[in-house]
Amino acid sequence: MRRKMAAGNWKMNGSTAALSELTALGDAHSDPKCELLICPPATLITAARNTAAKQIAIGGQDCHEAPSGAHTGDISADMLVDAGASYVILGHSERREDHNEGDSDVRQKARTALEAGLKVVICLGESLEERESNNTLDIIGGQLAGSIPDQVTGENLVVAYEPIWAIGTGKVPTLDQIGEVHDFIRARLERRFGAGIGRSTRILYGGSVKPTNAADIFAVSNVDGALVGGASLKAADFSAIITALEDA
Ligand code: 13P
Repeated sequence: MRRKMAAGNWKMNGSTAALSELTALGDAHSDPKCELLICPPATLITAARNTAAKQIAIGGQDCHEAPSGAHTGDISADMLVDAGASYVILGHSERREDHNEGDSDVRQKARTALEAGLKVVICLGESLEERESNNTLDIIGGQLAGSIPDQVTGENLVVAYEPIWAIGTGKVPTLDQIGEVHDFIRARLERRFGAGIGRSTRILYGGSVKPTNAADIFAVSNVDGALVGGASLKAADFSAIITALEDA
């Protein structure tokens, strides 16, 4: 059985004052029935690891594809591990857009992260234009083939489906649309990696997940949890989403 996962992506938000949210989260979920992951900005990873209760994993939001070297301003996978991270988000649409990252960049980053011992959360998602021109499954299939390296297992890979048009907009696909893409991702994972890895990989939904819509989304087939942006910044909101996942 797949262990469900509630993951929070703080993006470029949060200073040391935000660490109190982590403490509150750990107190509210001392024995969670799902895996908990918080990905704060890189500047907070060590403090987050030192502050958060053990049942909360800490992750980075990106890493460089090279293990080390002359890359001013970048962060390596080994540095994330050293800072206290056990996961890294890769291929988020904001990285793909802001930093022009393509599938082959994401794949190389993922290989480097896995070699460093990190688990990877690889993000896939279509634009509104791609959705409206009925190209969603083609886009997701292409990103999956291009972004996920061959070295993954059911334990070190998490896939996040994040339609770009649903991120931070309050717009959410219909439950049928979410189910269609998650079923498709599951089938593609099984076809490429076999039933063992294909069935044990968690597939998260991300994009405007809130306490008010979480339970409905978690009832959809092949939704194993959520990657949450805005609603992960406040412990009370994220806690309600975690509870909805535990009850699903
Ligand atoms: P929001 O939950 O703020 O829409 O962000 C989703 C996201 O991009 C998580 O990675």
